[in-house]
Amino acid sequence: MMINFKFYNYKTLDSTNNKAGELVKKGYYDVVVIAERQTKGKGRFKRKWFSDPGGLYMTISLKADDIDKTKYLTFIAALSVSKTIRKLARLSALVKWPNDVLIDGRKICGILTETISGRENYALIGIGLNINQKTFPESISNKTTSLKLETNKRHNIKKISESIIKEFNKLYNYYSKKNYGKIINEWKKYSHTLGRKIKAKTVNKTYIGRAIGIDNDCSLILRLDNGKIQKIIEGDIFSV
Ligand code: BTN
Repeated sequence: MMINFKFYNYKTLDSTNNKAGELVKKGYYDVVVIAERQTKGKGRFKRKWFSDPGGLYMTISLKADDIDKTKYLTFIAALSVSKTIRKLARLSALVKWPNDVLIDGRKICGILTETISGRENYALIGIGLNINQKTFPESISNKTTSLKLETNKRHNIKKISESIIKEFNKLYNYYSKKNYGKIINEWKKYSHTLGRKIKAKTVNKTYIGRAIGIDNDCSLILRLDNGKIQKIIEGDIFSV
């Protein structure tokens, strides 16, 4: 199944996720909300997402009957961004668990998926992609990049957003058929995470081990130094 998304474009929003949420509450979903800049861009764990003009700030809203499966939508979004970067900028973008896209180890994209539940459930998949920005706040500048910084060229934000939606729709087809294995396999093909020794920080614990797999609920599987297998459901990971 393909979704015929309707695009809503804005100059400034507090957050495209918030706007997409308001639209859902008014009955509008299967929507793509895009803003040229955000005044309150949000990241995971209540972090701030730096949202100056030049980046892509976009949220996809859709009906998500099975709220347990929304993590796949985050994977699909990260894959769609990686495939688009490979195609349009010819850079080897990789996905980092659970929701980032990296180029040469630096973060170029973050994804924040939120859900709205009620009589019907909806997912808001927020994508922040650094495109034409040349500078970032000092606190993140050594671990962040943009297409402009990587290629020394400006890129067309609209064209990139359209390609992401096209790729998203292709992968969404597997999701709508509940072919989740295909999404995991595709994610593994583009993975920066698997095979690496990493530190995983969860809300109350830190683990060090090798990333050896992805479970069928999108959790990360680590083999700890003592040989124990540890599943990470939510958290941040760092290469060690
Ligand atoms: C993260 O890496 O923590 C996720 C960042 C997600 C940022 C995007 S920008 C578009 C959308 N609107 C928001 O407020 N956040 C997401």
